Amino acid sequence: MYLVKLGGSVITDKARPLSFREDVVRRLVSELKPFSPLIIVHGAGSFGHVYAKEYGLADGFKSSEQLEGFARVQRDVRDLNMRIMNILIENGINAVSLPPFASCENSDGRLKSLDTAPFHRTVDMGLSPVTFGDAVFDDKIGFSICSGDYLMEALAEEFRPEKTIFLSDVDGIYDRNPAETGAELLPVISSSDSVSAGKSRDGVSDVTGGMAGKLASMVKIAPFSEVWMINGLVPGRLANLLNGETVIGSKVIP
Ligand code: IPE
Repeated sequence: MYLVKLGGSVITDKARPLSFREDVVRRLVSELKPFSPLIIVHGAGSFGHVYAKEYGLADGFKSSEQLEGFARVQRDVRDLNMRIMNILIENGINAVSLPPFASCENSDGRLKSLDTAPFHRTVDMGLSPVTFGDAVFDDKIGFSICSGDYLMEALAEEFRPEKTIFLSDVDGIYDRNPAETGAELLPVISSSDSVSAGKSRDGVSDVTGGMAGKLASMVKIAPFSEVWMINGLVPGRLANLLNGETVIGSKVIP
């Protein structure tokens, strides 16, 4: 079983609201098809982060004006999810959408509980569950954002996938901001060395912690699964990794 996150920076252009990269998703789905059924998580990209930031949703419920933002983010990430579901199903992956709003609760902005039973039933049936970053209820601050990265942590621990793969718009994790000259890709990162790596390069709005947050999630996953970050914008890289070939990317080891 494989667990793959289609990062928001891959499936959308994070700098432009509601910009879906349909061609990229079609290509990624064709690379995933031979390995289905599998578990898929996707980010929100420019379908979630723009309003989430504008309405301060990650900081919790403070005023009723935010409710419009909460509703909009919910609607927009479902719109994105439905576009992805269409491509998956048209291309022969029997995917079922499991929105986290109904099955998870946050506490102070972190995932507190996820009902994994529907995921198990879906997988046991031979279907591919798909979930995504969402705006959810929070037992401390009313509501907050459940990043797809938190869902990856919970699902990796529960399912112990053979490989857990984060698809990003960069080749992996660098020793500093990859926009800086001299930045080097780190092919293998041990969990104990991870503190200095993964400095965020995100200049665009990201309410869920950018690259450093992703690395923290990978460190949590490493005891349960082989965990990788690779570039989802480079054709063939995902298929090659799934086929067990050596690819450019970063692997986090316990
Ligand atoms: C963010 O999810 C969810 C919302 C902003 C609603 P992610 O953190 O998984 O999204 P990406 O991958 O960074 O876009």
